[in-house]
Amino acid sequence: MRKVGSLTDEIFENYVGGHFFMRGPYGNGFDVDMFKGKEIVLVTGGSGLSPVHGVIDYFADHMNECKSLTVISGFKSPADILFKEDLKRWIADGMNFICTVDKAPEEGDYDGHVGLVTQYIPELPLKDFDNAIAVVVGPPMMIKFSIQELIKLGFDEEKIWLSESRKMCCGLGKCGHCRIGKVYVCQDGPVFKYTELRTLID
Ligand code: FES
Repeated sequence: MRKVGSLTDEIFENYVGGHFFMRGPYGNGFDVDMFKGKEIVLVTGGSGLSPVHGVIDYFADHMNECKSLTVISGFKSPADILFKEDLKRWIADGMNFICTVDKAPEEGDYDGHVGLVTQYIPELPLKDFDNAIAVVVGPPMMIKFSIQELIKLGFDEEKIWLSESRKMCCGLGKCGHCRIGKVYVCQDGPVFKYTELRTLID
């Protein structure tokens, strides 16, 4: 959970150690069946790693069910890296996991990757684009430039998926807060094919 607005401010300030009731999630999600037998590429920015955590965990335990799995995850700084323990486990299991930070810290002993996720996309070791699938989750600019790089590399636009993150209010398709054109992200998404969203005007 990130502290990003009035609701999460309240939770961080007044509910630490306490309990609260959360309803949801609503809408769709990532179905692991759509990744099976494929060369999978997941590109995430910041908390965008969270929505694909389950997919990574599944294939970490069932690597024989996909052709390959590469994850490129970007964070602002080493302190912002999520799921550090899982990450060690995924890498130890032999997954090609590139964890990168925007800028190396001036102090400390960080010796990992540095730079934006987009700079690692051209180096992806993909062999079979007909059988490849990519998922991009993160801030809008990161999504935009990551998709450009994936297409430049040879990805079919139909095989790129995104998870949209919007400010939700009702979560039930009533208030319109999450609407992009005719699409209600809370009900129709948040997972969409890139080709479903690319022409919609926000
Ligand atoms: S959050 Fe209210 S319509 Fe989607």
